[in-house]
Amino acid sequence: MKLAELPVHRVKRIMSDEEATNIVGTVVPYLEPNCKEAGIWIDDETEEPILAYLPMEEEVSYLRRSVLNIKYGVTKRQSLGIENSSRTFGMAPRKVYQRRESCRPTTLAQDQPDEHAVLVAFAEKFGKMFKEFAPHLFERDAEVLNEAGLDNEWRMTDDALWTSGVVNKASTLPYHRDGFNFATWSAMPVIRRDMDGGLLHFPEYDMTCACRDGWVLFFPGYKYVHGVTPMKPRSKDGYRYSIVYYALRGMKDCFTFAVETAKGAENRTKREEHMAAVLKGEESSGVF
Ligand SMILES: [Fe+2]
Repeated sequence: MKLAELPVHRVKRIMSDEEATNIVGTVVPYLEPNCKEAGIWIDDETEEPILAYLPMEEEVSYLRRSVLNIKYGVTKRQSLGIENSSRTFGMAPRKVYQRRESCRPTTLAQDQPDEHAVLVAFAEKFGKMFKEFAPHLFERDAEVLNEAGLDNEWRMTDDALWTSGVVNKASTLPYHRDGFNFATWSAMPVIRRDMDGGLLHFPEYDMTCACRDGWVLFFPGYKYVHGVTPMKPRSKDGYRYSIVYYALRGMKDCFTFAVETAKGAENRTKREEHMAAVLKGEESSGVF
């Protein structure tokens, strides 16, 4: 398939931004897919692109093997108030309140370097696909990141625009927008077998994408509300993983990698010295 010649589908907006905001946090109902073929979908009135849906051309087996091998933890998503099984990859921003002083690679890079390397290699592949079917969107996103001053070192690869990602294991995420992202497009391949449901619904256009095994969705998750329909395994081995690649706004405050690492160590030392002083009664406690 020539990506530059993907069919273009026009869809009508049926819900305003504000109405969509009102359903954020609610559960997605069971829905039949109405976005099943490869193509690009645009707003009928504004002609603004909404999403692209297409098959990965080859090598899905590498991604499948890695995703099935990854050890998942239960994460609580504060913003959504739900728990799900997932694992982040790529780069993680600084989070002082979690005692993480520096931007750094996620733990998956160290714990399972081979699986992590495959996820990163696919970032490159999806970056190239994005650039091929929508060069103007790619350029616009590159500009958003450059203007924000995001250092190249914090990108997952040189040719992709994403800093980070998450693998979600059978997660029926309620309606949400990706509020922690830059105003750029995300890529979301899906790996599944023997699992019904787990489609991605965009209520503003009433579009429900099939999320077939080995297919990838590109969409601006920061902008449009989206959520996952309920899932039901057809066998005990049924699975459905979505792998989401995105650019985190938190990464723009990172310095370069070497400086960050040194700075992290320095802050930790300062905090430990302060805690020791507090314990000895030499300094008062307080937020440090
Ligand atoms: Fe999302």
